[in-house]
Amino acid sequence: MQVEDVKKVCVLGAGAMGAGIAQVCSQAGYAVAMRDIEQKFVDAGFKRIRGPLMKRVEKGKMTAAEVDAVVARIQGTTDVASAVKGAQLVIEAVPEKMELKKQVWAEAERSCPPEVVFASNTSSLSITEMAASTKRPDRFVGMHFFNPAPVMKLVEVIRGSETSSDTIAFAKSFCLKLGKEAVEVREAPGFVVNRLLVPMMNEAFNLLLEGVATAEDIDKAMKLGTNMPMGPFELADFTGLDIGLDTMETLFRETGDGKFRPSPLLRQYVRAGRLGRKTGKGVYDYTASP
Ligand code: CAA
Repeated sequence: MQVEDVKKVCVLGAGAMGAGIAQVCSQAGYAVAMRDIEQKFVDAGFKRIRGPLMKRVEKGKMTAAEVDAVVARIQGTTDVASAVKGAQLVIEAVPEKMELKKQVWAEAERSCPPEVVFASNTSSLSITEMAASTKRPDRFVGMHFFNPAPVMKLVEVIRGSETSSDTIAFAKSFCLKLGKEAVEVREAPGFVVNRLLVPMMNEAFNLLLEGVATAEDIDKAMKLGTNMPMGPFELADFTGLDIGLDTMETLFRETGDGKFRPSPLLRQYVRAGRLGRKTGKGVYDYTASP
């Protein structure tokens, strides 16, 4: 598959990442299908896309007609067969559970010709394992976008054990078409960014647990001391504490290295349902915000 052949992209999952990726592909001019298991999740995906774009309209950075065009290029659906129909590239962004991802890929494969490239947006799971569950391990690659996908420039392009060099070249060229920068990463738990970023966030929970500083001061220290746009807790609340915990569990399980042990406080917050902005409460409480 050559990047010039791509006319339609299918995105499986309409959560924060799926909707963001669908938006990026549509903004680059591609026809897009965005699929989720229930219509309410598809509708929520469209809301995630339209909301921030309408803010850009208010700021005079886009017209309402441009927003309508971005949305119109995206076909929302709950049907996998119709979503993948005519697509040259399928990007999966469903929750970070290996069995669920394999199941979704099996469904997609039933309706996809063999030349279609499969890309997973997993943030830490094994591309090789997912690829091995399909009949196209050489045309299976990781394309890891960052949240918010329409804003963040980077995509990690992950080479699984059987990913062909043609597929890597294809994925990198496609990132350029999206206006993104790609870095090629050999498969390893957490890849590059999450291997560095998530343990830093995890350690912030340990600092908080030890009473070394308040959450506000830990965030302030990292923002003013390292020029991060968000402190570790603001970022954890933004990306989801469950996502952070899943990544730490993967790093710990795959390496057996104690330096990746999830913080007990992070685990406790997740158990309490304090997942961050999406549940109204994480490290901080958002229920009182406008
Ligand atoms: N679509 C299009 N444009 C958008 C947008 C969207 N969904 N969301 C924001 N924007 C635009 C805004 O319109 C604005 O544009 P202008 O500068 O042209 O006005 C710009 O992006 C900045 O947005 P805001 O002004 O609303 O907000 P901000 O300046 O406070 O920035 C932020 C918000 C970009 C999220 C910034 O705080 C940031 O970069 N935070 C760190 C994010 C980060 O580290 N992400 C990676 C997380 S790790 C991860 O994702 C990996 C994983 O696997 C868990």
